[in-house]
Amino acid sequence: MTRALAALYRTFYAGVLSRLPEPTAIALGQTALRLLPLDRLGAFRLDDPRFAVTLGGVPLPNPVILAAQYYDPRILRRAMGLGFGAVTTKSITVDPRPGHPRPNLVRTRTTAGPGLVNCNGFQNPGLAAFRASIVGLPHRVPLIVSVAGESVQDYVTLVEALAPLGDLVEINISSPNTRLVYAWSERPRELRAVLETLGRMSPRPLIVKISPDFADANERHIIPAALEAGVRVVNYGNTRRIEEPRLSQSAGGLSGPDIFPATLDNVRRTRKRFGDALEIVATGGVDSADKAITLLREGARAIGYFTGFVTRGPILARRILEALRRGV
Ligand SMILES: Cc1cc2nc3c(=O)[nH]c(=O)nc-3n(C[C@H](O)[C@H](O)[C@H](O)COP(=O)(O)O)c2cc1C
Repeated sequence: MTRALAALYRTFYAGVLSRLPEPTAIALGQTALRLLPLDRLGAFRLDDPRFAVTLGGVPLPNPVILAAQYYDPRILRRAMGLGFGAVTTKSITVDPRPGHPRPNLVRTRTTAGPGLVNCNGFQNPGLAAFRASIVGLPHRVPLIVSVAGESVQDYVTLVEALAPLGDLVEINISSPNTRLVYAWSERPRELRAVLETLGRMSPRPLIVKISPDFADANERHIIPAALEAGVRVVNYGNTRRIEEPRLSQSAGGLSGPDIFPATLDNVRRTRKRFGDALEIVATGGVDSADKAITLLREGARAIGYFTGFVTRGPILARRILEALRRGV
């Protein structure tokens, strides 16, 4: 049954969604998510106590995570009933941001499959409005609150206000579309100070989300700094920065299956280098059950995806869990 649903969604994506102008497809997809009570259907979930994992000490019912992109509480609430073991919010900034002008999202299609390039630029309602919007959100599964800042003070303000409303906090230092956070990877000493400060004050476990564009700095400076600050979860990682003339910024972050080989390499290398001291959330290019299982076998504690949710549909989480059940 789920195989048929997956095939149906692929046909819908190829025949309808991917042919619409991007803003129309986004509006359609998000409206459907808000309106259709998919989370009440059992078809998208699979519960099995053997799937349980912990992330930074927080229990997750399974290791499949929806990666950062949505801030609308109606969508977050739905996503929590679509099979994921945890759901991540969009990266929230202290002040509201309109994001970059359109075109800020385009599709790619290579032999690896359908992907996206975005220069969203942290379009979000800002700390105060976002905080108010999620105060009453039930946590059917853990909520990972993602934050993005350009100073220690920004991160302290964000973590103070949002951590109590989440189960874990993800420190985004890796989105490539604004200098806002991307530059952190080039300032490891200052980043270390940020992580130490947050490690001391956060009431929730921290995740650092790192960039596949800085593999060397990640392994030499950033992961060691995180571990020394008591942060033991790394999300590896964000989109890969590429030139893209169709976008308003002429560059953006590539996501989807083209970045999967790098995700796999990054997981293998960091697992080998840092051992069990580090919990890795492997994100980047997961659009099939096979890819998810491969990353978990290579030592990821959990896997995350966003593009696969769009291109393979909400049934993907269930497909991954079915494959996981076959393997346990
Ligand atoms: C439109 C769009 C918006 C995104 N916004 C965020 C964000 O706010 N914060 C963040 O950490 N990652 C963001 N991401 C990155 C995803 O969370 C994910 O790390 C990346 O897309 C790689 O995974 P994927 O190939 O499964 O999509 C965004 C990705 C896309 C495509």
